Amino acid sequence: MQDNFGRNIHYLRISVTDRCNLACSYCVPNEKFKLLPRSEILSFDEIALVVKSGVRAGINKVRVTGGEPFARKGVVDLLAQLLGIPGIQKLGITTNGILLGKHLNRLRELKLDNINISLDTLIPAKFEQITRKNAWQSTWDAITKAVSMGFKNIKINIVAMKGINNDEFSDFARLTLKYPIQVRFIEFMPYGCWHDRNDLFISGRDIIAGIVKLGQVKELEKTSLDGPAKLFALHGSLGNIGIITAVSEHFCSSCNRLRLSADGKLRPCLYSDSSVDLKPVLRAKFLKEDEIFNLFAKAITLKPARHGCSRNFAMSTIGG
Ligand code: 5AD
Repeated sequence: MQDNFGRNIHYLRISVTDRCNLACSYCVPNEKFKLLPRSEILSFDEIALVVKSGVRAGINKVRVTGGEPFARKGVVDLLAQLLGIPGIQKLGITTNGILLGKHLNRLRELKLDNINISLDTLIPAKFEQITRKNAWQSTWDAITKAVSMGFKNIKINIVAMKGINNDEFSDFARLTLKYPIQVRFIEFMPYGCWHDRNDLFISGRDIIAGIVKLGQVKELEKTSLDGPAKLFALHGSLGNIGIITAVSEHFCSSCNRLRLSADGKLRPCLYSDSSVDLKPVLRAKFLKEDEIFNLFAKAITLKPARHGCSRNFAMSTIGG
C-alpha cells in the first residue's frame, strides 16, 4: 500500500519479545525500564493474524526481531507459521546469535535464509565489555556453523563506534574474502546508556574510506528487496560489505517499513512516538480481520515524510 508520500510500504519488522540475553550499552536504556508483562505480549497466533492482514495491505517481507527473538520460547514455530502465509516472499530474523546454533538445523529445514547476526567485535573480551556477557564464542560458532551449512544471505551487523571497534573494521571487511557473508556497518545512533556519546559516531563515508585502503573496492548494484545498505565488495571476495547511514544520510524517502512491537503496536517510524494499537481489536470478542487491515492502512498514513531523530526510546525493545 502507498503512503501519503508515494512510498510503497511492504516490509514489516516484528519484535516478538522485549527481553534480551545481552545488555549492550548502545541499546539498553540507562534507567531501569519495565519489561512487558507476559499477558501483554502477542501470542504467535495473534502475530500470524496480523501478518495475514498485513499481506492484504501489501506486506510481502517480514523480519522477526526482539529484544532477542530466540529468548522467546518456540520462536522457530512462529517462523514456520509465518512461512506458511501466502504472500510472504521474504522472511528473516535478526539475532545476537548466542542461542542461534541449536536452532540452525530446523531453520535449514524451513529454508529460512535471511539471518542477521549482531556482532560488534571479533575480540571476546571486548564483546563482554560492550554486551556485559561473556558469550562471544557462541555467536562466532553459530556464524561459522551457519556458513558451513550453506545458509544464503547471512549478514553480520556491526554498530560502528569510534574508539571501540573502528580498529577492527578492516578485519571485519576481510571476513568477506573467506566467507560468503555480508558484513554491515551501521552508523551509531546515540541511544540507551550511550545516548550522550556523540563522540562514538563515525560516518559511513569514513568507514568506507578506511576499508578502501585494503585494496580494490567496488560499489554494487542493488535489487528492490534489498535493504537500505549501500553495498561494496573487495576484489576477489565471496561476500560483500554493507554500510547503513541511518544518521548521516537518512533513507526516509525510500523507507518501506512498519514495525510491530511485542505488545501489538504498529509503529510507522522507528523515531516517531505515534503508533496504532492492534491489541484491542486482536483480543475483542468478535475479531474482525477487516479492522486489522484498516489499522494497517491508518499506520501507513501516519508515516512521516522523514524522521526527526529525537525520540528517546529503548532500542532494546523494538529491534533496531
Ligand atoms: N545504533 C545503531 N544500531 C543499533 N542497533 C541497536 N542499537 C543501536 C544503536 N544505538 C542495531 C544493532 C543490532 C540491531 C538489532 O539494532 O545493529 O544488530
